[in-house]
Amino acid sequence: MARVIGGIATTHVPSIGNALEKGLQSDPYWKPFFDAFPPLRRWLDLTKPDVAIVLYNDHGLNFFLDAMPTFAVGAAAEYRNEDEGWGIPTSPPFSGDPSLSWHLIDSLMRDEFDICSCQEMLVDHAFTIPMQLLWPEHAAMPRTIPISINTVQHPIPTPSRCYRFGQAIGRAIASYPEDLRVVVIGTGGLSHQLDGTRAGFINTSFDRMCLEKIVEAPEDLASYSTIDLIREAGAQGAELIMWLAMRGALTGTVRELHTTYHVPISNTAAGVLLLENAAQPVAAVR
Ligand code: DHB
Ligand code: FE
Repeated sequence: MARVIGGIATTHVPSIGNALEKGLQSDPYWKPFFDAFPPLRRWLDLTKPDVAIVLYNDHGLNFFLDAMPTFAVGAAAEYRNEDEGWGIPTSPPFSGDPSLSWHLIDSLMRDEFDICSCQEMLVDHAFTIPMQLLWPEHAAMPRTIPISINTVQHPIPTPSRCYRFGQAIGRAIASYPEDLRVVVIGTGGLSHQLDGTRAGFINTSFDRMCLEKIVEAPEDLASYSTIDLIREAGAQGAELIMWLAMRGALTGTVRELHTTYHVPISNTAAGVLLLENAAQPVAAVR
């Protein structure tokens, strides 16, 4: 049976791609952010997931205002990246897992999530940058399934809907007959607002509360309305719904293995989190 071995959440600012290209990992501005990743890479090296399911929000590369799905699941053998205009290098294609994708799509539909299935899907910086941070060597990346959640065109799905969507993903993976180790990655956040009168808005006390609650009490975060989340986290801080979907997919015993918080990276409060998802309650393992 397939199993979710853990969850990762990370910020996905495009300028990280430029810093990677220029090798700025030790630069004083970037070091506190990049220092979050060696422990995550060590864990991935140790646990060797076969598949990474990446919950992210497309920013206009694959979907635009003319047709905006709420939940879009990739079902391709390969996912390409293209120039989005941020000046970051275009990455090579990422390998998919169509068989697991179609299982997810079937299972999510039976679970009453009316998702959009995508046999072609371009992936943007919200997908490519976290993948590059976690697997700097492209050839070492596991197979991936991109799942995009709308944060661009209102109405966007509520935090509780995204948390329950994640739980449905967790159930879908658990019912896949092949022995696969799956890591679920949520990208975006934490607080930031890129436009309007609150451009540059960051809310560190809200972010720190989220970093605590996402581990032990995700339902508390899921109970926020969309408008309250935007008020507290900024218009683009609504990307926290990707963290909630990731957390929902962890249905075992969850333990925090690593977390960092650093302000700012570009206009964004950068949060990074690694959660282990033990198959059984810890007490039962002993
Ligand atoms: C920035 C943050 C984002 O989440 C994004 O998608 C683009 C830019 C930023 O802070 O620059
Ligand atoms: Fe974003």
